[in-house]
Amino acid sequence: MDSLEQLVASAVQDFMAAQDDAAALENAKAKYLGKTGQITELMKGLGKLDPEQRKAQGALINAAKGQIEAALTARRDALADAQMQTRLNAEAIDVSLPGRGRAGGGIHPVMRTWERVEAIFRSIGFDVADGPEIENDWTNFTALNSPENHPARSMQDTFYIEGNDSEGKPLLLRTHTSPMQVRYARSHTPPIKVIAPGRTYRVDSDATHSPMFHQVEGLWIAENISFADLKGVYLNFVKAFFETDDLQVRFRPSYFPFTEPSAEIDIAFGSGPLKGRWLEVSGSGQVHPTVVRNFGLDPEKYIGFAFGSGLERLTMLRYGINDLRLFYEGDLRFLKQFN
Ligand code: PHE
Repeated sequence: MDSLEQLVASAVQDFMAAQDDAAALENAKAKYLGKTGQITELMKGLGKLDPEQRKAQGALINAAKGQIEAALTARRDALADAQMQTRLNAEAIDVSLPGRGRAGGGIHPVMRTWERVEAIFRSIGFDVADGPEIENDWTNFTALNSPENHPARSMQDTFYIEGNDSEGKPLLLRTHTSPMQVRYARSHTPPIKVIAPGRTYRVDSDATHSPMFHQVEGLWIAENISFADLKGVYLNFVKAFFETDDLQVRFRPSYFPFTEPSAEIDIAFGSGPLKGRWLEVSGSGQVHPTVVRNFGLDPEKYIGFAFGSGLERLTMLRYGINDLRLFYEGDLRFLKQFN
């Protein structure tokens, strides 16, 4: 076999040996076609031949060069194709794979109650107010006619915060939304007609009590708001909330330092799974004259009622939930039922 054929064969072999690395192929190319490559050297050697031989030999070398170039191009294309294929495989998208998506959130059942209560009271002209969860002693207790050392305070044992208020009294997580009566009344002029829903805290934990829970405070103060108005407003509210007229309300005498007289409000459904049972839903009463005075108002002139209802309690009765802890365990099997 003549040496040109061998040269072509060895070039093809070198090109094939160059794997997916472009530099290897370029090195192999240089070996034959570069400035000092073997084909180039052969070309340079033509000068020493006489014209007849040069022509014949030149044609042969050119043919070999053409073959080598063709082999090079073919290999280059093959390598590029292979590389593209590898990339396509790596970037492959499995269109049959379910998308990751974004899970849809839902509204917590207690929040649903909160929104519902706001809507119902707004519809009968109540304002909606919001206030701090960290309270001072005066607003949470003293202004509400629970003087220091009064035993009624221990009904609402609570969490104290490090540090004191400006009077040197401890700060605490509010035990009820009733301090909002004081805050709102002191910053508004009568007639005062407001609800204040929000988080409240007590050292309490069992199937019907949680250390954090929600209440909605109601307050209506004007010159002639009576217990009869409380009855009317609250009956109207529970009928709207539970979406039934087949329901009775009962006011059971009770005690709160900030109301006089005071009452627990019970309701009884005329039908449904809870039919006929009296269920407590709220504390309430006519606002105590001392508290009206602490509102900065004259108790001889201004009178009215207040109530404080548990949002969890209302939610449990509406949906037939028997354990309050379910609200705070974050179990999706429970929560999804409301969305
Ligand atoms: N704040 C009372 C409680 O948490 C409820 C209440 C509010 C009672 C307003 C009467 C008037 O138990």
